[in-house]
Amino acid sequence: MTESAAKLAAELAGAQEQAGRMKAELGGVVVLDFGGQYTQLIARRIREQQVFAAILRCTAPVEEIQKLAPAGIVLSGGPSSVYDADAPKCDPKVLALGIPVLGICYGMQWITHTLGGKVEKAARREYGRAQLKVGCEGGPESSALFSGVPAALRVWNSHGDQVLALPPGFRTIGMTENAVAAVEDVQRKIYAVEFHPEVKHTERGTELLRNFLFGVCKAEPKWSGAAFIEETTAAIREKVGNKWAICALSGGVDSTVAAVLVHRAMGNRLTNIFVNTGLLRKHEFESTLEMLRDRLKLRVIGVDASDRFLAQLKGITDPEEKRRRIGREFIAVFAEQAQKLQAGEAHGEIGYLVQGTLYPDVIESVSVKGPSSTIKTHHNVGGLPEKMPFALIEPLRDLFKDEVRQIGKELGLPAEVLVKHPFPGPGLAVRLLGEVNPTQLATLREADAIVVEEIRKAGFYEKVWQAFAVLLPIRSVGVMGDFRTYGQTVVVRVVESDDAMTADWVKLPGEVLAGISTRIVNEVSGVTRVVYDVSSKPPSTIEWE
Ligand code: XMP
Repeated sequence: MTESAAKLAAELAGAQEQAGRMKAELGGVVVLDFGGQYTQLIARRIREQQVFAAILRCTAPVEEIQKLAPAGIVLSGGPSSVYDADAPKCDPKVLALGIPVLGICYGMQWITHTLGGKVEKAARREYGRAQLKVGCEGGPESSALFSGVPAALRVWNSHGDQVLALPPGFRTIGMTENAVAAVEDVQRKIYAVEFHPEVKHTERGTELLRNFLFGVCKAEPKWSGAAFIEETTAAIREKVGNKWAICALSGGVDSTVAAVLVHRAMGNRLTNIFVNTGLLRKHEFESTLEMLRDRLKLRVIGVDASDRFLAQLKGITDPEEKRRRIGREFIAVFAEQAQKLQAGEAHGEIGYLVQGTLYPDVIESVSVKGPSSTIKTHHNVGGLPEKMPFALIEPLRDLFKDEVRQIGKELGLPAEVLVKHPFPGPGLAVRLLGEVNPTQLATLREADAIVVEEIRKAGFYEKVWQAFAVLLPIRSVGVMGDFRTYGQTVVVRVVESDDAMTADWVKLPGEVLAGISTRIVNEVSGVTRVVYDVSSKPPSTIEWE
């Protein structure tokens, strides 16, 4: 390892430790992720009870978990069977820390399998509703987990394997018609359920989680936006000492909230770099720069690198190649600016890079089994840190978009920032199919501005996740006045989503679509056809490239 790489590794280790200290003070819960589709929902439901929840991979070392000093550990569900050759596993020591554990679905099967019980491979997966009978084997008293809930509950199931024999020390505390649905070992404070209490379809699911958090773990409801801001600010301050930091700021909600939070901790020792890639929306560079500098009082260097990005994209049509080139150029521009800063003004050493990474960014870029399932190359996750001798500050890494918006609101950010639709790092380049050139960019920019304007006017902007235009390099025949036309096609894409991992197209009223269509063909030269994208994610993605 070179000296600078060793230094970076040491700083990153320090960063993790600091993150640990930050959360330990909140006395939260660790959710170990076995790859289940509801893992993030579990964390969110816990935070809704004002208890902090951090998600770690199931393979996280026990020491890492202990550093967080959690009040409880939740083992998530997952798609595997404990009998699969590559079934995900935790370190079994997790069950011997004396910290209360709640296993959910696969988490329950893994606990049973690991502690000497028996799990049976079911003939077929069981999905959907089931009737749970709450009742304790071997005693009239009820379980702390079911305290205050009725004796029969409708629950939501999604599992393949089922528990056949309990490990020593456990007893059954709930059954469905044909399976053991809930177990406990009060001595070891280990609880497990086959169904999903985090899902809304499970009756009284929130109460079960509350019983675990407050009845079993004795967690304290200390987590709130204000507490998060205080803790994070103090932790950043302590971590950075007298060093300086830089941030790649895009003006989007995530990076702006991250920058304002870090600015709160270190003031003007944070320099933000905002790059005009030439791939931004209409007037976006100027208006964002004005908002960041004049209204949020951040220290921002605006760099117009449009020509460089355009030169890189000349002749390129492959979507991933576009993303790679934009990512690479972005790193080059950013590194130059960082070097200039380091060499120029009188200030201390730049030791940190601030990123507004959110939880969905992390899981779309890595999977429990490794990075093989990366869906798209998101240039804001990965890339930068490997290239540069900076440790990362990612204050929003455990949060969801709506939670970040809440934090932003408490930080006093203007509403226009908080409700701003997400915009991909590679910008209009991935909304413009085929080669990116100034003419196509100008066409798309105009069409996009109309879509957003009309959506705002109709009162939908704040109700939808994203609304934008896509330009297709396909020509079709039309007629305008007495002339035959042969123009391009604009796709209107409007989606609703909670976290961008799944999305659905919005059923806009016909008159709103008509207004958008008429304006685009009348006002954007070269476009003669407008279509509405009625695909959901999956199987489509939100962006077209
Ligand atoms: P997809 O197209 O994968 O997009 O369904 C999911 C969400 O992510 C945004 N997106 C990006 N955001 N850098 C970003 O910061 C990127 O490279 C990128 N690609 C897609 C997209 O707008 C949607 O909200």
